[in-house]
Amino acid sequence: MNKQPLLTKYNLSGLKLSNRVVMAPMTRSRAGEGNVPTDLMAKYYRQRSSAGFIISEGTQISQQGIGYPWTPGIHTKDQIEGWNKVTKAVHEEGSNIFAQIWHVGRVSHPRYHNGEPPVAPSAVKPEGQIFTANGMKEFVTPRALQSDEIPGIIEDYAQAARNAIKAGFDGVEIHGANGYLIDQFLKDGTNKRSDKYGGSLQNRSRFAVEVVEAVSDAIGSDRTGIRLSPVGRNQGISDSNPKEMFGYLLEQLNDYNLAYVHLMEAISDVSDIDNYPTKVTEYFRNIYNGTIITNAGYDQDSGNEAIENGTADLVAYGRLFLANPDLPARFEANAKLNDQDKSTFYGGDEEGYTDYPFMSQSTEVAAE
Ligand SMILES: Cc1cc2nc3c(=O)[nH]c(=O)nc-3n(C[C@H](O)[C@H](O)[C@H](O)COP(=O)(O)O)c2cc1C
Repeated sequence: MNKQPLLTKYNLSGLKLSNRVVMAPMTRSRAGEGNVPTDLMAKYYRQRSSAGFIISEGTQISQQGIGYPWTPGIHTKDQIEGWNKVTKAVHEEGSNIFAQIWHVGRVSHPRYHNGEPPVAPSAVKPEGQIFTANGMKEFVTPRALQSDEIPGIIEDYAQAARNAIKAGFDGVEIHGANGYLIDQFLKDGTNKRSDKYGGSLQNRSRFAVEVVEAVSDAIGSDRTGIRLSPVGRNQGISDSNPKEMFGYLLEQLNDYNLAYVHLMEAISDVSDIDNYPTKVTEYFRNIYNGTIITNAGYDQDSGNEAIENGTADLVAYGRLFLANPDLPARFEANAKLNDQDKSTFYGGDEEGYTDYPFMSQSTEVAAE
């Protein structure tokens, strides 16, 4: 019998992936004092190292970039040393790992910023509430960044990338998705600027492109990926024409020889919204020429199909990997999957983190 497409090898910018099953970036809010990665985190990632490729949870590039409690950073010496344990564990098991570098922009709370509001392209308040160590809190209106503050933030991304390499990562994924800072610059619901970072498609994509350039200069474009969610609407973010905005951005990204672009499908129904592609990866595949990782909502069959029909090169799994440390082996055996426990997604200890059973520990394996 032929190998399932998901279980075939792939050369990702020189990294030899043993399969095309990618572990999607997932915040688990279990970092230690000083937002330093812990031994338990190293164990969690080691357990999932049968993935051909792992993308770390969002890891903040600076104190200004923090939005949630207990998320790891990559801007202090202790954080770099903590991550070193994680990358060592993953490499010992023969896998590859990029750090997802993250600035949340407006999706934050004054408690992380000495009582000051978080920063954003424009003073547009997110919808809903934010998770904090003291429960859910109302979002506040962010402060619009001054033009002359922007180069410093771009340098924070570049420094985070250098730190990631120092910490033993194989590269970085720039977090340009899910309503965080880069996405806030790209989308016109949150970007109302009148300087060179707002207005036209070129201006709205400038921040993303400058971050890509700075990170590529710092560590090499072949070690740089970016995640985008063209139709994502987290915390009320929106764009009037994602086909146009992200088509324009991806055309520019064709020039950078990046390791990959990671595209997220819709996680809520967008079929009734004008200019929102319902099949994101399929739509942008015709525009972007390099390696594409696709994500969101895939199972074993739809993942195999996406590779078979050429929609994507690699498929990232979030919740399935969270609950199934040995996901590729389970796909290979067509085995039953563990269910996820949502109550332990964020924060806590080993429960719902490193205690999901491996197949060998489960009794229920589906018959072939
Ligand atoms: C607990 C949890 C934490 C997440 N944290 C992040 C994150 O830090 N960065 C990110 O880009 N996406 C994050 N996501 C989104 C996932 O990467 C993924 O896009 C989402 O789970 C959909 O994929 P799936 O259907 O395979 O689970 C998170 C998702 C979950 C469930």
